Amino acid sequence: MIIKSTSFLKSATRPGNYPELSCPEIAFAGRSNVGKSSLLNVLIQRKSLVRTSSTPGRTQLINFFDLNGELALVDLPGYGFAKVPMAVKTQWGPMVRTYLQSRTTLAAVVMLFDVRRVPRAEDLQLLDWLEEFSIPTIPVITKIDKVTRNTRRKHIEPIIAATGLPAEAFTLFSALSKEGREEIWERLEVAVENMVEEMELEPASDLDADDLNG
Ligand code: GTP
Ligand code: MG
Repeated sequence: MIIKSTSFLKSATRPGNYPELSCPEIAFAGRSNVGKSSLLNVLIQRKSLVRTSSTPGRTQLINFFDLNGELALVDLPGYGFAKVPMAVKTQWGPMVRTYLQSRTTLAAVVMLFDVRRVPRAEDLQLLDWLEEFSIPTIPVITKIDKVTRNTRRKHIEPIIAATGLPAEAFTLFSALSKEGREEIWERLEVAVENMVEEMELEPASDLDADDLNG
């Protein structure tokens, strides 16, 4: 995709506040500090349209961004950060699950894993929801620059084992070197094309017509 314009649309916590869009959408999920916002900025080649921070757990809202008016990108709130207040922690599950369940234009979720961390319960919970709602999932192992090339395999193996996903399902990425950027874009484009086809097969207006006639 040739990026002509990008903009922040809005933040939301519940469906009534999501922006009303008719274009496909891609969301980015993963634990706090895993690099969701950094990946988004590398994909759209903007230094800091999406807020990144060295204080993890700050972005506790669902943040919507627009690309060319053609595609929406969504930075989902991170999880698993110890210092986040309990009230915020208990909101995360329902907020994210409801989003995944209700967002009909969602084409795929990019699920990030830190190359140096073994996936934990919340990561596996999220993968379960993606499966439950049949949402195409693009698993990405990020911060790949943090380990040497020789030890990549050793670091990746526990992630493969914990998630049960095949090794070839993962794209390796680094926000520093930008390795993996093109591959992720290719995967996003496939997901978007599939979603556009689905939206054309079942346009919302047809459903309305059926309701009126039925
Ligand atoms: P929350 O919004 O708190 O959930 O975090 P996040 O997942 O958006 O992470 P963010 O992009 O803010 O990155 C967290 C920290 O990791 C920042 O200091 C980034 O600079 C750093 N970081 C992100 N990606 C990479 C990467 O690929 N390599 C390296 N070395 N550092 C990275
Ligand atoms: Mg972030």
